[in-house]
Amino acid sequence: MKEHHPIRREDALVLAHYYVPDAVQAAADFVGDSFALARKAKESDKPVIVFCGVSFMGESAKILCPDKEVYIPAADAHCAMAEMASEEEILHIRATVPDLAVVTYVNSSARLKALSDVIVTSSNAVKVVSRLKEKNIYFIPDKNLGAYVAAQLPEKKFYLGWGCCPIHNATTAREVRAAQAAHPGALLLVHPECPEEVRALAAYVGSTAGIIAYAEKSGAAEFLVGTEAGTLYELRSRCPGKKFYVTRESFLCRDMKKITPEALARVFAGEGTPVEVPADVAAKARVALDRMLELGQ
Ligand code: 13P
Ligand code: SF4
Repeated sequence: MKEHHPIRREDALVLAHYYVPDAVQAAADFVGDSFALARKAKESDKPVIVFCGVSFMGESAKILCPDKEVYIPAADAHCAMAEMASEEEILHIRATVPDLAVVTYVNSSARLKALSDVIVTSSNAVKVVSRLKEKNIYFIPDKNLGAYVAAQLPEKKFYLGWGCCPIHNATTAREVRAAQAAHPGALLLVHPECPEEVRALAAYVGSTAGIIAYAEKSGAAEFLVGTEAGTLYELRSRCPGKKFYVTRESFLCRDMKKITPEALARVFAGEGTPVEVPADVAAKARVALDRMLELGQ
């Protein structure tokens, strides 16, 4: 077992997702969506990465940077969707559908990534899938993101998984209409993990970084945001003159909120446990992740 040691701040790149608490975003070197964070991890020349996000993000960073020490500040911070597909399902479809690519959303365990042909994030999924030569696409685990991508690529045949983010998937057209009635004139911007009936109402559908970029460029003054409430921190700091509301008050990912400033401090005090991914799993998952970085440019 490795000896725990304090980490010098200058030796670490601190990455944070938009859903972690505001104070942690403020302490990070870089805040971004899943794709931007994975790229930053890969490009870093620091020996340590402290990834303020859920476990699949730390695993992906470790897979992409096997020689670095990678930490996530709360070892029990997991994405609820990360295991919502099975090896049996993947093997079955590979055996029955020809000319098939298994496309796996980055919100998945390293084990699922290792069984995949390519990984996608919400910001590059349409581009990556459009560049695949295979006609048939098995998209796991997120049925909502999969349906969103399928709608833009009618030339492909999609087989969708059954998984979803319980937090985004709980959004309904009815509650969004009620929020719109409370904030008339606000533009609706939603994450593609939301169900179809909600995406259909939106002015813009995209990743967290896409939502922020859209709001920044837009001439509108008010926005209703259909994603985790942590995103409001970056929206409000980048667009101080504009108003932002979430589609429901409790739009919160409890696992992302486990990444507290105290948990971050414990990593620097040497109390964190480095992320480890078994070598055989990491080698296979790295091929699929590298393919995303290549096709998603
Ligand atoms: P983004 O890649 O859009 O930041 O999404 C990550 C996520 O977990 C959404 O729920
Ligand atoms: Fe996973 Fe949903 Fe949390 Fe995103 S918001 S990390 S998809 S549980």
